[in-house]
Amino acid sequence: MYVASSRIVGGDASAECQFPWMAVVGTRSSLCGGSIIDDRHVLTAAHCVVRRNVVVNPRLLTIGVGSSRRNRARRFRVSQVTVHPQYRSSSFSNDVAVITLRRRLQWSQCVRPVCLPDQLDTALVGQICVAAGWGLTNEKNSRAENNLRSVKVPIVSSGTCRRIYGSRNFDTNNICAGDVRAGGIDSCRGDSGGPLMCSSGTQWKVMGIVSFGRGCGRRRAPGVYAFVPPYVSWINSVRS
Ligand code: ARG
Repeated sequence: MYVASSRIVGGDASAECQFPWMAVVGTRSSLCGGSIIDDRHVLTAAHCVVRRNVVVNPRLLTIGVGSSRRNRARRFRVSQVTVHPQYRSSSFSNDVAVITLRRRLQWSQCVRPVCLPDQLDTALVGQICVAAGWGLTNEKNSRAENNLRSVKVPIVSSGTCRRIYGSRNFDTNNICAGDVRAGGIDSCRGDSGGPLMCSSGTQWKVMGIVSFGRGCGRRRAPGVYAFVPPYVSWINSVRS
């Protein structure tokens, strides 16, 4: 019998503190990921914090940091949720939000920020980046994972993604990643808001934010990410 080592989709369990900027962004009924970008701010997807076109009450959100295991994460409260002003839920455009924590984080081996890219950074087609999250390991599952998982996914050309998803859903502020031909490696439900990280030298940069996809890990349906570089100045304006 063939048992896929299906994780995030097609990835592996992360070691404790392997991605110390990973945050769980949750409400009572929803699970998302996020990336710590400084000691008071977490980057996530707008669709993680907007319900029926209304930004969720910050009191209903909790941010968990400091462990690859969700149930061991230390919880932080939120003072403010800032959604990109041009976010459109119908097309997932500008699916970016910044969460401000009530208290500052203290850095440790398991709590550290990820780098933001430069505004002019590009992602190269074929470059291998990493998506991580606590989401489903298979689009047919329903239980999210307790242990963080990650998967290596190559960047796919924008032309291919635009052909697959249409130019309304896939614009110049998106990138997509996965194995177009074979499928099998992807982010999935519950991973939204988490990072698509690309390493440059010794540092990891958050180049994408998990946004949407048709199913998970299907052939000809790579995962779509908000492309972070064009949003860097907006992100910086929120935290200053
Ligand atoms: N929108 C999903 C969420 O809310 C994430 C979907 C990512 N899908 C994918 N096939 N990469 O968790």
